[in-house]
Amino acid sequence: MSSLPNHPEDGAETVDRPDVTFARLVEMTASGEPIVMVTAYDHPSASVAQHAGVDMILVGDSAAMVVLGHDSTLPITMDEMIMLASAVKRGAHTPLIVGDMPFGSYEESDAIAVRNAQRFIKEAGCDAVKLEGGGTSAERAKAIAAAGVPVMGHIGLTPQTASALGGYKAQGRTASAAASVLNDAVRLQDAGCFSIVIECVPSAVTELIVEQLSIPTIGIGAGPSTAGQVLVYHDLLGLREGRTAKFVKPYAQLRDSAISAVATYAAEVRSGEYPGPEHGYSIEPAELNSLRESLPQAVAAGRVQ
Ligand code: KIV
Repeated sequence: MSSLPNHPEDGAETVDRPDVTFARLVEMTASGEPIVMVTAYDHPSASVAQHAGVDMILVGDSAAMVVLGHDSTLPITMDEMIMLASAVKRGAHTPLIVGDMPFGSYEESDAIAVRNAQRFIKEAGCDAVKLEGGGTSAERAKAIAAAGVPVMGHIGLTPQTASALGGYKAQGRTASAAASVLNDAVRLQDAGCFSIVIECVPSAVTELIVEQLSIPTIGIGAGPSTAGQVLVYHDLLGLREGRTAKFVKPYAQLRDSAISAVATYAAEVRSGEYPGPEHGYSIEPAELNSLRESLPQAVAAGRVQ
């Protein structure tokens, strides 16, 4: 979110949208205009999101898995998240940018949570932060919001505590489990969250939660009733290896295209087809002749290494 112009020199055509503000999210929710959110982790993915005209970018701690190759979101550090979020900020100017607080960056105390939340704003230029869970997380959210940092909640399947939740599976599938997810949502709203992500919750339960809240909700595997939707960039572009979750719709198969492009490059280098004459630079024949003639003397004089 800024008043910087788009970058027409980037080459691609930009979807012309105004800066997205917190007030705009509230307006969109009230009018039923869906909010589009996608994750991004670096300058190229942020630039794609910018040019595609999304409303919000989440610099997700899913970077631990999709960018850094870990098998969960737990290992990523604050410093790594700040580096990724700074690159995203340089690539996107109109979407509202949310930095995801990594595991271990907010649980211990309000003071630590506030300090790390402020790093996303001061060092990376994010507009807001996100943290996972209800309970103590609602207290941390309250402290962060009171310190002037807009904060987003995240309920249902919270990957940072996935093992305690029985793995990466849908949450809130019994009346009491659903009531507990709803309770988390209300506590986070009362704590001052400007929005809440609802992940992997039955659509009918999401509908009941959305009815109880006045702030914008963003769903992922939570059905169509939320004010907006979020997907992981690598999932929606088909950039990941292996199986994806049921809620993922791949809109492209870029991993296959990338493998095929790099394999073709490798084959052409090996066969001598690349580089061709059209990929090289020329020199005037007279200049080349003069170089050739002067070469023995120049080498002898130690002027050519
Ligand atoms: O880290 C992430 O990508 C997320 C989304 C799945 C909501 O938290």
